[in-house]
Amino acid sequence: MFKWFSRNEVERDIYSPNKNIRCHFTLKSGQVTYSVFRNEKLIIRNSRLGFLICGEQPLVNNLKLIREQRKHHEEFFEMPWGEDRYINNTYNEFAFYLSEAKEQKRIFTLRFRVFDNSVAFRYEIPPQPKFSQITIKDELTEFNVDLNSIAWKIPAYQPDRYEYNYEKTMVHQLQNSVHTPLTLKTPTGYYLAIHEAALYNYGSATIKLNQNNSLKIDITPLSDGTKAHVVLPFQTPWRLIMIADSATELTTNRTMYALNEPPVGDFSWVHTLKFIGIWWAMYVGEWTWAPGDRHGATTTHAKEYIDAAVRLGVSGLLIEGWNDGWEGDWLENGINNKFTIATPDFNLEEVASYARNHKIEIVGHHETVGFIDNYEKQLEEAYNYYAANGIRYIKTGYAGSKMSINGRREYHHSQLGVNHYQKTVELAAKKHICLDIHEPIKGTGIERTWPNLLSREGARGQEYEGGALSPSHACYLPYTRLLSGGMDYTPGILDLTNSVKRMATTLARQLAYFVTIYSGMQMAADRPFIYEQRFPEEFDFIRSVPTNFSKTIPLAGEIGEYYVVARKDRNSEDWYIGGVTDENGRRIHISLEFLERGAVYKASIYADADHAHYREEPFAIIKQEKRVGCNDVFDLYMAPGGGFAIRLTRL
Ligand code: NOJ
Ligand code: CA
Repeated sequence: MFKWFSRNEVERDIYSPNKNIRCHFTLKSGQVTYSVFRNEKLIIRNSRLGFLICGEQPLVNNLKLIREQRKHHEEFFEMPWGEDRYINNTYNEFAFYLSEAKEQKRIFTLRFRVFDNSVAFRYEIPPQPKFSQITIKDELTEFNVDLNSIAWKIPAYQPDRYEYNYEKTMVHQLQNSVHTPLTLKTPTGYYLAIHEAALYNYGSATIKLNQNNSLKIDITPLSDGTKAHVVLPFQTPWRLIMIADSATELTTNRTMYALNEPPVGDFSWVHTLKFIGIWWAMYVGEWTWAPGDRHGATTTHAKEYIDAAVRLGVSGLLIEGWNDGWEGDWLENGINNKFTIATPDFNLEEVASYARNHKIEIVGHHETVGFIDNYEKQLEEAYNYYAANGIRYIKTGYAGSKMSINGRREYHHSQLGVNHYQKTVELAAKKHICLDIHEPIKGTGIERTWPNLLSREGARGQEYEGGALSPSHACYLPYTRLLSGGMDYTPGILDLTNSVKRMATTLARQLAYFVTIYSGMQMAADRPFIYEQRFPEEFDFIRSVPTNFSKTIPLAGEIGEYYVVARKDRNSEDWYIGGVTDENGRRIHISLEFLERGAVYKASIYADADHAHYREEPFAIIKQEKRVGCNDVFDLYMAPGGGFAIRLTRL
């Protein structure tokens, strides 16, 4: 349904299918704004929309509506892997076709989609005479939330990219730009997350409080100071506002995926993976990435780890530090990294063939150190080299505070950074390779379109243990970073008290992470001898926990305090429950009413003992088995810095 006309003053309401959310669009005095209501309570005040364009008049004034179009869409689509098998894509859409009334008469479209739990909109700019290639100076989009809302934020434009501890602050106290997803709690008690979906060929959105006290989008700039160079037609990523009544409800908002396109082509070759790695031994100083006496990635070690993977029942092995160039000050020397030449003590062909014979997937590794020019020169050949050796998974890395692209220093989350990551995803798809990107661009749901992008890091992970992580960190993640998709947190470090990297967790909590932090490529990150010799029973849980779920049900939690979640295996009738808490111990009751009526399950429980504590008694664990059904309630204790993990096997 659409209409043609020319109007200067327009007001429209777009309701969510269940009518609980109302997005109000206004065209007044030639300018467009929107506001959002939940249950008729205002949650986003009149907020400005538009652009500043280099060498052109701003695209924001003298607008008139020339056409409008409405649509209702109802769909559940299936994701090949993830936290939920089916995702609801039901919304009411309103597209506003706008034109300048005077002078150039440039046109663009504002498309809104209102879901039962979200509002999204994007700008679409078609090519037009004298307006075909533009440089965005600024995007003016605002999200005018109540300044007395609470925000949980990490800073943008910092050397460690997204790898910061979350901080709680009031919106009116925000000083510098912060990353999305930006999670907020309004004074009226609603939980919001401002994020974006389908980020392609554009700087990523950060958010800042501007001089007029509104939250405004701050697109990551390029080194030339502009935000993006685009050729029309162009559409921005979706601007996404997730809305929930509780913190836990926010965690299952999957609108980000709904706003991405279905995959094109066959991705049936993509499979999630659990893997161990020639990795943590480097963090604890036993081995090194660089060649030498204690070099980790040798042919011998790799074969030993492949044997261990077979014994442990894990399907993959990551090998870091295998390639030529990783020497001395690796952050400085990263420009020398070669991605098709192994170190002399590592025979890739031999290791790959040994892995194949033992049915173990090798996870290759490309640490680019952000030297994109160096990496892109080798990209095709490097992927071919792995593919020719049957290697179907690659972990990439972009350490360093900025990227060097075209000889200039660019932010990882700038348009050029975004385009680089996309190039790797698309080339990998062509070669049937799955990626786990460290120091990535944040998730915006593109894995719906590119299911071979199985995981990314993009937050502080366990590599920061040994001082920089507090127990609350993993209690923030589900409500913040993980709203943007799975994360390779590198869980399962069971050697908690090693002298180099002491964990701020209990033992049971390390198991909980496999449930509370989803990753399509999930690492059992400790060294295999730790699992085999010291914790074989705990490893039973790590072995069994799936990397692909059909349903996720958050059971309890508050941001930064605790989180309890149940997930159903995609390939069986089994369920897994995980819980984590901050520095405070807490007792929790979990009703099993979500289980199928009449069904009986064996519960294998790994929980903190009463005297457990992440500092004093991290290993104090209780392991128990029980028969349970949907009428049962678990009464569980999570120690300070602790948690629990439960496997429910259908009998
Ligand atoms: C940082 C990554 O997060 C980590 O997993 C990797 O081992 C190092 N960079 C070296 O590439
Ligand atoms: Ca990292």
